[in-house]
Amino acid sequence: MAETITITDDRTGQTVTVPIEGGVFPASAIRSLDPSLFVYDPAYMQTASCKSAITYLDGENGILRYRGYPIEQLAEKSTFLEVAYLLLEGELPNPDQLATWTHDITHHTFIHENMRKRFVDGFHYDAHPMGMFVSALAALGTFYDGAKDIDDEESRQRQVVRLIAKTPTIAAMCYRFSAGLPFNYPSNDISFPANFLSMMWKIGDEYELNPVLEKAMDVLFILHADHEQNCGTTAMRVVGSSNADPYSSAAAAASALYGPLHGGANEAVVRMLNDIGSIENVPAFIQSVKDGEGRLMGFGHRVYKNYDPRAKIIKQTAYDVFEVTGKNPLLDIALKLEEVALQDPYFVDRKLYPNVDFYSGLIYQAMGFPVEMFTVLFAIPRTAGWLAHWQELLADKEQKISRPRQWYVGPETRDYVPMSSRS
Ligand code: CMC
Repeated sequence: MAETITITDDRTGQTVTVPIEGGVFPASAIRSLDPSLFVYDPAYMQTASCKSAITYLDGENGILRYRGYPIEQLAEKSTFLEVAYLLLEGELPNPDQLATWTHDITHHTFIHENMRKRFVDGFHYDAHPMGMFVSALAALGTFYDGAKDIDDEESRQRQVVRLIAKTPTIAAMCYRFSAGLPFNYPSNDISFPANFLSMMWKIGDEYELNPVLEKAMDVLFILHADHEQNCGTTAMRVVGSSNADPYSSAAAAASALYGPLHGGANEAVVRMLNDIGSIENVPAFIQSVKDGEGRLMGFGHRVYKNYDPRAKIIKQTAYDVFEVTGKNPLLDIALKLEEVALQDPYFVDRKLYPNVDFYSGLIYQAMGFPVEMFTVLFAIPRTAGWLAHWQELLADKEQKISRPRQWYVGPETRDYVPMSSRS
């Protein structure tokens, strides 16, 4: 069978035949027929905006791989820092590379004292930590001369290390401020997830790290590190395509992640489970979703039409965490919701399955994180994915500044109407 597609413009009878590669054909085919002809594709449902070698996602079969490695293997055997290196460099690090990378990240975790004191103090006492986090990312770039030197590879690498190293510090800072607690400085002697947990929870010099929770945090970081061209990553690429610095681009990506249909869904799931209140209310809630009164948060995905592989791993991690923290009382409601939804034709027919956010909030809550911090927890590891895509974009000679076209449906030209003649 020919791996080509032929398009005929019936207005002119002109025809073009182009190859289909990897399920994609180039839009230049349409341009060659008529440069003023465009494809209407709201939400990019059918548009591949770039070539990418970072993350592979097969939504029909529930497959997720970073640089070819199955997410299940990485979650079980790897660490977040190793995965971040893999996403950025394309290969798993050897022992020397990992040691250097870990050293570099560990020694860039401090933030400028002005960020901690003067910047954060400007927020209202009850500011949402994600709003603070988004602003802090953009502000961070103003502290570094080289932030804008995006054509200099060495400078780019420095900004990448800084961003990955400092996001946990910023995240913990936002939480401590909103809780009215003093800031904890990073430590150079403990792992990446342990450092974050310690900055979150240490009181005075005291924090007893539980290795199960340290591992769970690392697994959650691995699972959230990248997910190809989602809304946040697309924002990173669109803003990055204007040659904006990576801090401003990451702030844009984090803003996209903040939305309840994207990274804000884990927060929405816990609020939903609280509203449902008990297992007996599950059938009535499911009925209200089917009646169009709201969505079952943590269910459904633009790409996955099967069980999200991350949700499976997270469900298992939840049980490990609950061994330490005690069971989250909302778990029973979540399990019942999943059971009812997966048997209901409304959800079955639309291929709606639990996504990454369905169980992650329960773990975060059991670990003591307030719901407002959930999206921040997502943003910390996703920074590595955003930066991997930003680097790939800058190296891609086929990319230009992002600039989609529109289908104009407004009024035709008309003459200005003076105020006295307007009713
Ligand atoms: N509950 C009830 N109905 C749903 C849901 C849901 N969670 N998700 C989709 N549907 C229905 C929707 O009403 C539509 O039905 P119909 O064909 O009758 O109009 C059909 O399923 C297709 O939905 P859609 O909105 O066209 O699908 P989409 O690909 O645009 O949306 C989504 C994907 C994730 C935004 C959506 O499934 C959703 O809103 N889910 C809840 C929010 C959520 O959990 N988001 C986290 C996504 S995973 C984390 C991440 O990657 O950021």
